[in-house]
Amino acid sequence: MTALPDRIRVVEVGPRDGLQNEAVHVPTDRKVRLVEALGDVGLSAIEMTAFVHPRWIPQMADASEVATTVRRRPGVRYSALVPNVKGYAAAAAADVPVVAVFMSATETHSRRNLNKGIDEAIEALREVTLAAQADGREVRAYLSVVFGCPYEGEVAPTATLAIAKRLASMGIGELSLGDTTGMANPTQVRRLVSALREEVSGLSLAGHFHDTRGTALANTYAAMLEGLEVFDASVGGLGGCPYAPGASGNLSTNDLVAMLEGMGIATGVDRDGLLEVTRWICQDVLGVSIPSREATAELARRAKAARVAAERA
Ligand code: HMG
Ligand code: MG
Repeated sequence: MTALPDRIRVVEVGPRDGLQNEAVHVPTDRKVRLVEALGDVGLSAIEMTAFVHPRWIPQMADASEVATTVRRRPGVRYSALVPNVKGYAAAAAADVPVVAVFMSATETHSRRNLNKGIDEAIEALREVTLAAQADGREVRAYLSVVFGCPYEGEVAPTATLAIAKRLASMGIGELSLGDTTGMANPTQVRRLVSALREEVSGLSLAGHFHDTRGTALANTYAAMLEGLEVFDASVGGLGGCPYAPGASGNLSTNDLVAMLEGMGIATGVDRDGLLEVTRWICQDVLGVSIPSREATAELARRAKAARVAAERA
């Protein structure tokens, strides 16, 4: 067990993971505004979009336009999801500084998500990584379903360790551990993170928890106890993987930031500003109720305070 950190880096994945599964088509200018607004409230790492096949993920069909239109704030690490060299060429043309590659810890999820088995997916990921490194771009990798797979059930840590070793040998900077369908529990998280830290050197780790079963914050805390300092989260708790049935809801940035700041751990995020962005994207743009518990509670508290003030006036 390590001491808790003073500061956590939040990687905001809402514009990609949050929107990719939304049935409502979001116009490009709203996506651009979302990325810019998230930067304005202090998120220092933002995944803008995904350069994937539009037949697979129609919501991300405007990736190039989003990435080239966003007004980039100095100091913010902008990334985009890239599945293969074709996606990389488009991301490079749009001058995306951080490339996020992805693959799965199980054969079935890999085929559903990438139309490739694990070995073939690693080769595609290696090609992208080499191209990005040659161009001086940073590479971040996601490994999905590391704790449990909707098709294959519980996933043994040995499967993840074997893949992580292969990724580390490619010089990937950061590996984000995906609990794609929110199946993990804190005991599993501690076991896997400590095994990775012991057995795979040179990889820095991030947590990517979906809150499908309400365990994302507990898993975050467990990962922090094992030394993790980077967590992915989505504005309002939007999101899910289209190839992982039931993967509703990423850990919400709102819940994460509120918990961390309450614990005295800095995130750099302006919570009031984030609440306004959350209300706008969920209610005004998507017309959905806000998944985040923190944002829902805070908006209800403010509405009640306003009613009381109006009654007194
Ligand atoms: P495929 O059909 O096997 O591709 O799809 P292919 O290489 O056989 O090529 C077929 C056609 O696709 C060709 O066009 C290619 O040019 C085109 P055609 O000749 O037929 O006209 N193509 C592309 N077009 C646009 N962009 C590309 C691209 N690549 C090939 N990049 C592919 C393979 C990887 C493209 C497809 O499976 C795909 O796009 N998958 C993306 C799936 C996805 O985005 N899933 C959700 C994100 S992952 C996630 O949410 C998990 C995560 O959050 C972590 C966690 O929670 O665990 C990251
Ligand atoms: Mg995800």
